Amino acid sequence: MNESQRHHSVLFVCLGNICRSPLAEGVFRRLLSDRELADAFHVDSCGTGAWHVGNPPDPRSVEVALAHDIDISRQRARQLSRSDYDEFQWIVAMDGANARTIEERAPRGHDANIVPFMSFVPNASHAGVPDPYYGGDDGFLTVYRLLLSGMGPLIDAVLRRGTK
Ligand code: 4NP
Repeated sequence: MNESQRHHSVLFVCLGNICRSPLAEGVFRRLLSDRELADAFHVDSCGTGAWHVGNPPDPRSVEVALAHDIDISRQRARQLSRSDYDEFQWIVAMDGANARTIEERAPRGHDANIVPFMSFVPNASHAGVPDPYYGGDDGFLTVYRLLLSGMGPLIDAVLRRGTK
């Protein structure tokens, strides 16, 4: 591993940290390990809301991940905190509402890159990663596919940008 690959940091953020961002974290970690980049990255996920703090991911997210050979069952939800803006170089919002909340809570003078995940999805047909919480199981597969399609471009963008 060369020095320029070290210490990239990426935080995935959704509303509850039980559906979309845990799956995003799982897919991202999988692609990093496939590329032998896992040691170069600090990765986590959180929610803007606190309702599910301490809980494991939604069973439907765990299931769609497992169906693609990814284990996210040991993740536990936590809420976005002020220190995240220092700790993470990239803060990746699942949808527009999440992005606005992240911006509103940002401490003055922070230098994290706050980016919408959809900006990495080629030919995106959704404005954001759709919240699957109140829908059926197919919503979770849609989320998985969207996440997979944007993760390669996100990794490339992080590597191009270099370290903080
Ligand atoms: P997530 O989905 O933001 O993708 O984790 C949700 C989970 C829980 C709630 C909303 C969205 N909720 O209102 O409890």
